[in-house]
Amino acid sequence: MKNNKKIIAIIQARVNSTRLPNKVLLKLNKVPTIIRMIDRLKISNLIDEIWVATGTSKINDKLVRILDSSKNINVFRGDDLDVLSRYIEVAKKTKANIIIRLTGDCPLIDSEIVDNTVKLLIDKKADYASNIIKRTYPDGLDVEAFTYKTLLETDKNAPKGFCREHVTTYMHGLYKSKYPKGDFKRVSLENSVDFSNLRWTLDEKKDFDFLNSIFSNLSYNASWLEIISFLLDNPLLQMNNSIIDSNEGAVDKTLSSYSRYNKSNKFFKKAIKYVPLASQTFSKSYIQWPKGEAPLFIERAYGSQVVDIDKNHYIDYILGLLPITLGYCDRDVDNAVISQIMKGSIFSLPSKLETILAEKLVNLIPSAEMVRFGKNGSDATTAAIRLARAYTNRDMIAVSGYHGWHDWYIGSSTRDLGVPNTVKKLTHKFIFNDAESLKYLFKKHPNKFAAVILEPAGLVETKVSFLKEIKKICKENKTLLIFDEIISGFRINMGGAQLEYGVKPDLSCFGKGMANGYPLSALVGSKKIMKLMEEIFFSSTFGGDTISLAASIATIEKLQKNQVVKKTRLYGKKLILELNKVCKNENIDSFIKISDIDWWPQIIIEDPPIEKFLLISLLRQELLKTGIMVNSTFNLCYAHTVPEIMEATVKRFKQAVTNLKVFIESPNPKKYLKGNLVQTTFKVR
Ligand SMILES: Cc1ncc(COP(=O)(O)O)c(C=O)c1O
Repeated sequence: MKNNKKIIAIIQARVNSTRLPNKVLLKLNKVPTIIRMIDRLKISNLIDEIWVATGTSKINDKLVRILDSSKNINVFRGDDLDVLSRYIEVAKKTKANIIIRLTGDCPLIDSEIVDNTVKLLIDKKADYASNIIKRTYPDGLDVEAFTYKTLLETDKNAPKGFCREHVTTYMHGLYKSKYPKGDFKRVSLENSVDFSNLRWTLDEKKDFDFLNSIFSNLSYNASWLEIISFLLDNPLLQMNNSIIDSNEGAVDKTLSSYSRYNKSNKFFKKAIKYVPLASQTFSKSYIQWPKGEAPLFIERAYGSQVVDIDKNHYIDYILGLLPITLGYCDRDVDNAVISQIMKGSIFSLPSKLETILAEKLVNLIPSAEMVRFGKNGSDATTAAIRLARAYTNRDMIAVSGYHGWHDWYIGSSTRDLGVPNTVKKLTHKFIFNDAESLKYLFKKHPNKFAAVILEPAGLVETKVSFLKEIKKICKENKTLLIFDEIISGFRINMGGAQLEYGVKPDLSCFGKGMANGYPLSALVGSKKIMKLMEEIFFSSTFGGDTISLAASIATIEKLQKNQVVKKTRLYGKKLILELNKVCKNENIDSFIKISDIDWWPQIIIEDPPIEKFLLISLLRQELLKTGIMVNSTFNLCYAHTVPEIMEATVKRFKQAVTNLKVFIESPNPKKYLKGNLVQTTFKVR
């Protein structure tokens, strides 16, 4: 009772559910769903009476028997289809002033959310209050509260059929284009963080397994935030549940305008107005995807998965372009970050963390004796080049791989717009695994090269003899050898490709995977060379920010403790095997295969029977549809390395290529492409 108002909760429940028969009676850790729900409602501070309103048909006798055998449960039986009439009758009978509508398939109903909805209704003197007007709570925590007067008016005006069966259609007015809407004051209960993608309702067997695990692991009265916290520690549980289309019920899929990517497509129109390319990064932009039939914006991520703004979940094999090595929102890393936030992110003098992390890198990486930090990988590679030029007093650079967006490198690519010709002339390419191509450059420009920079491991198997040979050439020519380990670092080996292959460069660059997604890069090298950094202007406001340093320390410790590199490489090996098996079984292995690099497998498309970019677009379209986000490489992290993720990946991949095969074999494959053709960024490797 609040403000002298009698408040009753009515749970509408029935036994004859088609998708999951008897669902309200299924036992969640030994207690029937409906009783679980009632037990959680009993914690409410405001509810005076709890009623279960069911239909008169015989099938519901079983439910009534179970309820009768439990104490203090009020049961009402009324019209099977006109559910609204059941509410009217219970409200009249109990002389209720405020009625709370709940449905019997929500065993995780949260009494605090219920109370907050009622308080909102009363405080705002509203006719109807709910958390379904703008959904921010997990599906399954739905609460609607309304006054007796609102109920009576609804009874008077709600047309037969849908509006009476669904009780509150006339009150909330959410389907106003199809059904009438009352003239009510409505208020919306919203959470500051949007959790509406979570599905905690009971509709299918998968939901049951999920809910059963919750009741088996947590106290019956755990709050919804405790449940969220539990899920963060058990992302697999959340994933299994999220695989069920969480939009179900919330979106009318029969509408001709329905698309899995509605929100992405709509938001894109705004984004492209304000942000060139609608992205900060070429490789994350819409040109990589069959736009129109692809997600374009991500809302959040967990473990190995991302959730787009339409709330579709994907197993993600892009990992933000590789900085994620453990998994998104890794608990240990995020805890380290949160405790650092509480101390401050950036100070007026260096923090101790710079030295602590530097020492860790020196202990791990063969070429590291001293360390400087940057934010992006490009910071580290550019610092290395400036240092090499200063150290050798030469200007030319030989490159093999991709080394970032700064002039000295990008001038050698096809996206060289804006780079002065004088700068372009200083950078020359040589061919990976081909020492002769480097020798040729050195012969053509003797004593001119300050540095040779290359990715020592990448999409093709490295010939160790090649690395050894270029080291020798560099030494003979007094040129510095720089390993760009922005990708290979913390992925192929904790000490980088240099430890994997036993070849020590003069300088090395790390980035991406070293802080599990927090922005940090590092230039490391021998003391003799690095000492010169004291004279080089490599100096920035945010260099050394403590958040990324704290993240990196926690990341590296966890990578070591859990032998993550070993496990992700094993996962990679198995993934290559399984996906190649699928390609073989589907008879497409003559043009699609997965490369044999276990730490960084690539989808290789060669001599396809249809235009290559059409095939790539169709493949991406179909993979996205099944819930896999990947472009050309499988970027792996620790969170992938559980059997369920492997199993789901293989199953989804199979489904996607089966569809692809049908398209390819049809007379007009192009007609199956629902979005735009993907475009290349530019070929860098
Ligand atoms: C090998 C390599 N080096 C350097 C870079 C540049 O790093 P960033 O984009 O963080 O500046 C990248 C980025 O993809 C890279 O893959």
